[in-house]
Amino acid sequence: MKHLLPLTILLLMPGPAQAAASPGARIAFEGAASGAPPCAACHGEHLQGTPALKSPAIAGLTADYILARLDHYAGPSGHNPQMKQVATTLTAQEKRVVADYLAGLKR
Ligand code: HEC
Repeated sequence: MKHLLPLTILLLMPGPAQAAASPGARIAFEGAASGAPPCAACHGEHLQGTPALKSPAIAGLTADYILARLDHYAGPSGHNPQMKQVATTLTAQEKRVVADYLAGLKR
């Protein structure tokens, strides 16, 4: 449960601080309005990967690369069930926004 603590803190933050979190950060840490789960749930609290879940680091990848990977997972050759669910649930705009957010993070 330890890794869920930052999420809890995010959710408990008062209104103004939460409003300051970018839409991309919200998708990454709280999930998307479309229903896609938070990236951090699998990719780790710093989005640096969770080896135990075979989830690679996604912080600091380029936005183009992330969007290409999401397209791959959503398409016929994407066989990873977890990422297929994420990639087929996110809207095109949510993909763009979260990809831009992740690309701005330190690798
Ligand atoms: C339920 C767990 C889970 C969630 C939630 C999840 N991922 Fe993943 N993700 C994975 C796993 C597992 C892989 C590795 C899949 C593989 O082997 O191809 C992966 C791979 C990726 C990759 C490919 C990385 C690379 O180096 O090629 C990207 C990009 C990615 N995820 C983005 C996201 C984004 C963005 C979100 C949030 C919107 C997200 N993921 C949410 C489990 C998850």
